[in-house]
Amino acid sequence: MTLSYKKETIEKIGFSEEKNNTNNGYISKSKKVNRHILNDFYSAVDSRDFYDLAEAVLAEIEDSSEVVKCAEVASKRQPGGAFYRAKLWAKISYLLEEIGNEKKQNLELKQLCELVGLHPNQAKGYIIQGKAIESVEKAFINTGNLREAPPALFQYAQRQKDRAGEYLIEAAKIFEKKSSATPTQIHREWCHKNGSIQANLDIIKPSDWWAFGHPKWRKEEDFPGSIPGEIYANALYYFAPKTGVAVDAMAGSGMFNRVYDDRDRWQKDSAFDLEIHLFDLHPCRNFIQKHDARKPLPIKADWIFIDPPYFGQSNHLFDGDLAAAKDYAEYLELLKEVIVALTDSLLPNGRLCIFLPKWSGLKLENPNYDIPADAYSLAINAGLHWIDAAFVSRARQQEAGSAVKNNAAKRERRMRSDTCVLNVFQKLGV
Ligand SMILES: C[S@@+](CC[C@H](N)C(=O)[O-])C[C@H]1O[C@@H](n2cnc3c(N)ncnc32)[C@H](O)[C@@H]1O
Repeated sequence: MTLSYKKETIEKIGFSEEKNNTNNGYISKSKKVNRHILNDFYSAVDSRDFYDLAEAVLAEIEDSSEVVKCAEVASKRQPGGAFYRAKLWAKISYLLEEIGNEKKQNLELKQLCELVGLHPNQAKGYIIQGKAIESVEKAFINTGNLREAPPALFQYAQRQKDRAGEYLIEAAKIFEKKSSATPTQIHREWCHKNGSIQANLDIIKPSDWWAFGHPKWRKEEDFPGSIPGEIYANALYYFAPKTGVAVDAMAGSGMFNRVYDDRDRWQKDSAFDLEIHLFDLHPCRNFIQKHDARKPLPIKADWIFIDPPYFGQSNHLFDGDLAAAKDYAEYLELLKEVIVALTDSLLPNGRLCIFLPKWSGLKLENPNYDIPADAYSLAINAGLHWIDAAFVSRARQQEAGSAVKNNAAKRERRMRSDTCVLNVFQKLGV
């Protein structure tokens, strides 16, 4: 089903509604370029006009280099950009089919991609997406909500390869029931029915050395102190139960929430079904509850994670007792209160993950505090049992502008602290 464009728009651009349809629903094989359509398409402001004009481009423009340019211009828009980029690339694939053998088609595709600065593999992905959208149209399912969906939904569909069409049909049906469904919710429903997809192996690490060069979850501008989401993903994957209560007791930006919501990207076949809760002394998101971790949580939990303010380097970032500790003795005293209260909040066999770096003064004569080791002692004294540890790169020596600090570290023979330790403890069953 090709969506029809509005009569006023057709009149505005000087086309009759009569179409000489081919099997693809596109007219004439001549390389038609209607400048009116293109000019209106490039200057469309209103979404409805944009949709109508994108349909007009699909129906009327036969010059592949013009269609390619329209596809990439369309992609900059939201809503509707991802949908029309995909449909326009599918059209390009039909135009390419007309020019002869595969070799020629690939050459032409390469040239078209160069025109708009895309890699041909990306273009092939959009073609898969566009043909998947056509499957929805052919099934006479309403594409109204699909048209407004963000790019992530079409990328999820593309990853299903020859099931991409089925995927979007399922998505369109979900949208009919719940128009506000997000790509993650749709994907979860798809995985629930169709089995989980192969997880992204980059996210889950095979060993206890965790380095994430390009974190997949971006830091949010208002909270520079968040950790890479991959740390939560690995800590859950290796150490959390599949069901039960999971808590981030010092939730900061709420990264835990984002990573758990996106679990289809990393959980493989775990099918986590956790009840998650986020707390912080200074909540900065409406889904984080205010709570001082030095007091037992209002609920008992199976898995608790803390990423406390780091000693001596966080007081410019966070308010709060741990960040503001005047010296290391006070910091450890506060950390002890937190560990005791969280141990008390664990259910039998529950686990506590503590994520901390060492603190090293800049000069050899400055203190060098092994905070993970001190936290270890506090946890053991609180009655917990150590079960495992992972070592996480902070990537500080690669940070822009680090050369001076790196040189000073070598000169002073005092290594910079560039690793966080995730220690995991368990409360024995009662
Ligand atoms: C390093 S940040 C956590 C960042 C978080 N992991 C993320 O990725 O967004 C430390 C957080 O601990 C909180 N905090 C400090 N002392 C606390 C306390 N006594 N109880 C609860 N939260 C506390 C701070 O408000 C801050 O948000």
